[in-house]
Amino acid sequence: MHVRNYLSAAIYALPTLAQGSLAGNTESTTDDPFEVYTISAENITAKFIPYGARLTSVLVPDRSGNVQDVVMGYDDPKQYLIDTETSHTYFGAVVGRYANRIKNGTFTIDGVEYHVPENENGGIDTLHGGFVGYDQRNWTVTAHTTSSVTFTLLDKGFESFPGDVITHATYTVDTKVTSENPRGFPQLTSKLVSLALTEKTPIMLANHIYWNLNAYKESTVLNDTFLQLPLSHRLIAGDSILIPNGTILEAADSYGGSVDFTAGKLVGEHIEDTYGLCGDDCTGYDTCFLVDRPPWYPATPNTLVPVLRMNSSTTGISLEVSTNQAALQIFTCDSQNGTIPIKPSQVKRNEADGHGGTNYLNQYGCVVVETEGWIDGINNPQWGQLPQQVYSPEDGPAINWATYKFGTIE
Ligand SMILES: *[C@@H]1O[C@H](CO)[C@@H](O)[C@H](O)[C@H]1NC(C)=O
Ligand SMILES: *[C@@H]1O[C@H](CO)[C@@H](O)[C@H](O)[C@H]1NC(C)=O
Ligand SMILES: *[C@@H]1O[C@H](CO)[C@@H](O)[C@H](O)[C@H]1NC(C)=O
Ligand SMILES: *[C@@H]1O[C@H](CO)[C@@H](O)[C@H](O)[C@H]1NC(C)=O
Ligand SMILES: *[C@@H]1O[C@H](CO)[C@@H](O)[C@H](O)[C@H]1NC(C)=O
Ligand SMILES: *[C@@H]1O[C@H](CO)[C@@H](O)[C@H](O)[C@H]1NC(C)=O
Ligand SMILES: *[C@@H]1O[C@H](CO)[C@@H](O)[C@H](O)[C@H]1NC(C)=O
Repeated sequence: MHVRNYLSAAIYALPTLAQGSLAGNTESTTDDPFEVYTISAENITAKFIPYGARLTSVLVPDRSGNVQDVVMGYDDPKQYLIDTETSHTYFGAVVGRYANRIKNGTFTIDGVEYHVPENENGGIDTLHGGFVGYDQRNWTVTAHTTSSVTFTLLDKGFESFPGDVITHATYTVDTKVTSENPRGFPQLTSKLVSLALTEKTPIMLANHIYWNLNAYKESTVLNDTFLQLPLSHRLIAGDSILIPNGTILEAADSYGGSVDFTAGKLVGEHIEDTYGLCGDDCTGYDTCFLVDRPPWYPATPNTLVPVLRMNSSTTGISLEVSTNQAALQIFTCDSQNGTIPIKPSQVKRNEADGHGGTNYLNQYGCVVVETEGWIDGINNPQWGQLPQQVYSPEDGPAINWATYKFGTIE
């Protein structure tokens, strides 16, 4: 990513936006927010909708060469609007302006206290940007090719955050042989690039993708899905509603070591030892794992480092996630209860495979991976994360860059 190229792209997009969402400060009525945009390369097809700049499907081959959809979502795009009004899962969306939780909906910048809407836990904290976060915005499609799509959002001080922010979300798929991808595996890249336009403001975006590499052929991911977080020796402690209390924990010494995924293990291997980790009376993971880069990886915003490896012994599908972000929120779908149906298109594949599977999303039926900054870093200046979480018009852009590389295991 070259900053200069980004700036010219941002300026290029402004006239397009002016005709749609910017004029009169209302959202575009000409574009259909539920139109499906498909991008593909060899062995990978991904689908998106403008509502939430949202990833709705990722099709990759399993070890037998049969294509599987490895993300949770809906076949019918309009269902995402109903989801927002009911279970509000944030399936596949870009979340922002500030992902994850803000304690008391309050933060201070240069001595000024700001208050944003508290949309979680009956009004005591802010989750994913407030009542109407980026997941519910109808982004403008500013570019689309066979292998890439770009969604753009001008946030005019939405949800009481200070100032305006423009974001381009560019997704690509490719199989190019590079030093990071020497075998040319199919990969999806997400680049969320934001500029503070008028005031100093927190900016922390994230993709909110629900992965299931067994493609719902099993009732959960507990027994067949390996997870490794090679750089996450530390995590942020949360209270009973997952708000950081300021303490950084060592993974090896906490919750009986159940939070230590540095060497990799089955998702379910130690899940019984996580009681309380995902909140009051909750068992499972919903946790901000830190990314401790080895010293030879420069900590500049433009370098990616592998932070997560996952594979399913059922389908043989493997995933490696690399990012420039300083943390990962990992959520094992602890609050799901078997009421949201699996996409009929995937249920049909599972029937055709003769494997069967689950027709509903169960508790522990997926792994959400959010590559982002340290949770509530804006309220914990002692962590030193402010330069990566607060931006003014003189700074930036804020770049959240992640790649999702797919392969198969024996
Ligand atoms: C695509 O998938 C097929 C079947 O699994 C495999 O034989 C082929 O090598 C893959 N191509 C790439 C570029 O990964
Ligand atoms: C299951 O979860 C949904 C929210 O995701 C909730 O509306 C529903 O009441 C729950 N059902 C049961 C039986 O707990
Ligand atoms: C919570 O937010 C309110 C409103 O901004 C503020 O008055 C109060 O001091 C905050 N409480 C804490 C503990 O930060
Ligand atoms: C996005 O479009 C949908 C469908 O028209 C609409 O219901 C929703 O309110 C829009 N979102 C916002 C934030 O305006
Ligand atoms: C996972 O394995 C454990 C122990 O073998 C077993 O008790 C449990 O029923 C399995 N769960 C699923 C969802 O397959
Ligand atoms: C924060 O919570 C963790 C985990 O429960 C605990 O070990 C730690 O002592 C707490 N820190 C503070 C400052 O309360
Ligand atoms: C699956 O992933 C785990 C965790 O990264 C790893 O230890 C294991 O070797 C992988 N399995 C295969 C067959 O590659």
